[in-house]
Amino acid sequence: MSELEDLVANARAAFQNAADGATLENEKARFLGKSGVLTEKLKAVGKLDPALRKTEGARINRAKEAIEALLHERRQALADLHMQKRLDEEAIDVTLPGRGRAMTGLHPVTRTWHRIEEIFRSMGFDVADGPEIESDWMSFTALNNPENHPARSMQDTFYVDYRDSSGLFYNLRPHTSPMQVRYARMHTPPIKVIAPGRTYRVDSDATHSPMFHQVEGLWIDEAISFADLKGVYTTFLQRFFETEDLKVRFRPSFFPFTEPSAEIDMAFSSGPLKGRWLEISGSGQVHPSVVRNMGLDPESYMGFAFGSGIERLAMLRYGITDLRLFYEGDLRFLRQFA
Ligand code: DAH
Repeated sequence: MSELEDLVANARAAFQNAADGATLENEKARFLGKSGVLTEKLKAVGKLDPALRKTEGARINRAKEAIEALLHERRQALADLHMQKRLDEEAIDVTLPGRGRAMTGLHPVTRTWHRIEEIFRSMGFDVADGPEIESDWMSFTALNNPENHPARSMQDTFYVDYRDSSGLFYNLRPHTSPMQVRYARMHTPPIKVIAPGRTYRVDSDATHSPMFHQVEGLWIDEAISFADLKGVYTTFLQRFFETEDLKVRFRPSFFPFTEPSAEIDMAFSSGPLKGRWLEISGSGQVHPSVVRNMGLDPESYMGFAFGSGIERLAMLRYGITDLRLFYEGDLRFLRQFA
């Protein structure tokens, strides 16, 4: 056997012996990696006599392709084994008689969404729905984020490869705040609305998902102030968590679309989270420029807005610590809420 044939045979044996993905990738590095055997051989071709270079190079490349094919084959085989193992472990006997009709149930995020709607409706708020593909103007400009203002990059936005006839960019809305301006332009004061819905950001870990939910709140009239925000939001939290035994604080913060702005924090007075301050919502007095973009005169109209994460509220209500559980579709998790 030629040296190259030997090498392919060695790779075949090494890949075959790799019992798991990590070992296989290590073996791959040994043959195909930056300083792997084949790479070294290919490098050496350059030093060969020009007459030999072409044939030798081609021979090595053929060996390389053969080894790559073996690697793919083994990767697939290991993946199949892994899947088979899971299927065996999680097997259910489909021939068993049924245990009655399965009950359907609502997803915990949907339940939370409905609960929020119910509470705000009872306080006289309308509920509005808006587009998830939103213009850059509505998402940012109308909300007092000037072009190139760093606040635009505060949210890592998914942009959509489309522009309308006036050249506007579009994105997957990074927050529900554009609904403030959209709704206000279609209604006359008093404007009292919440807009729950899906939002999107380039973000993924135990507390962030690329798709998540927010609820925007807006109340605009001739004399709606921060004091009303405090009353409304505190009442909401008390009803949501079914207890008056919680503390609420408004911590100074910054948002381009509100002035002054505040982060709303809450703390339970009992239970496992007792005494820990938890950030629950952004909020503030709507900025005069935003009121103007709503088509209203900021000399005559004022009000408050807030934007809260629905998953965050659901996690606190149900004691869930990993946000990803909401989106894995695991029935063992979901059934607990049915
Ligand atoms: N849009 C903000 C965000 O996604 C949240 C927010 C803060 C909404 C303050 C508001 C507000 O309406 O007044 O982080």
